[in-house]
Amino acid sequence: MIEVRHVSKRFRRGDSVVEALKDFDLTIARREIVAVIGPSGCGKSTLLNIIAGLYAPSKGRVVYKGAPVGDVNTDVGYMTQKDNLLPWRNVRDNVAFPLELAGKTKSEREARADEVIKHVGLDGFELRYPHELSGGMRKRACLARMILYGAETALLDEPFAALDAQLKLVMHDLLLKLAAENEQTVVFVTHDLMEAVTLADRVIVCTRRPAMIALEQKIPLARPRDVLNMRFTNEFKEIYDTLWERLRLEYQEERV
Ligand SMILES: Nc1ncnc2c1ncn2[C@@H]1O[C@H](COP(=O)(O)OP(=O)(O)OP(=O)(O)O)[C@@H](O)[C@H]1O
Ligand SMILES: [Mg+2]
Repeated sequence: MIEVRHVSKRFRRGDSVVEALKDFDLTIARREIVAVIGPSGCGKSTLLNIIAGLYAPSKGRVVYKGAPVGDVNTDVGYMTQKDNLLPWRNVRDNVAFPLELAGKTKSEREARADEVIKHVGLDGFELRYPHELSGGMRKRACLARMILYGAETALLDEPFAALDAQLKLVMHDLLLKLAAENEQTVVFVTHDLMEAVTLADRVIVCTRRPAMIALEQKIPLARPRDVLNMRFTNEFKEIYDTLWERLRLEYQEERV
């Protein structure tokens, strides 16, 4: 579905150059769920921006379903790290935005928006504006909007970072159900290794900047997954420990 072929990215400003990705090579299959984890500032969001077609790589290329990505890829739904709700629209109208672009009637938009708003636990807040919401609520509104967009591929940048532990589990369950139902391909960035192992078919551990792949680990845990209880199994712990050993090195080196 997605091929990231030897992608490097450098940001230049005057004489200074920041290298964010280096020779990143990754192939993602249709319906695969891939988690990307690594130290802060290593280049994870840059990777998603490049897959979405928002940034051009400095070297290498991204191929989506056999065609090179040269511009914004509209087959991909992208929930960015920073929420980008429109401040002058209430929750319902923000969430329904993709349907408005698709030319759906007002009544259909509202009915479908309210349904996903309920899924993410924001019912009662349909008429509130983004500045009236907490950080986690804004994230959930973005998630709801992305669900309505219904793209075949979803890119999510730390989608659950602002949520409490309980709500995270509810959202994990929702994500897995929706991805299975809609046969979606999912790439998500997280700092939460437990979350990565719980949700993903494969976890990519990145080095500190510039991000390279330090370790790729398949997660052979059966689906459908019990997001609450699977973390207590030995199988889960073994995988978690292997990944943590590698990830720890990157965090340690970061501090020296
Ligand atoms: N548009 C840009 N212009 C210049 N530099 C950028 C730009 N986007 C990212 N960078 C730089 O690239 C590096 C990687 O940033 P990126 O946002 O990809 O990190 P990240 O892994 O997502 O970090 P975090 O976990 O903190 O979100 C950083 O040094 C950042 O300053
Ligand atoms: Mg980021």
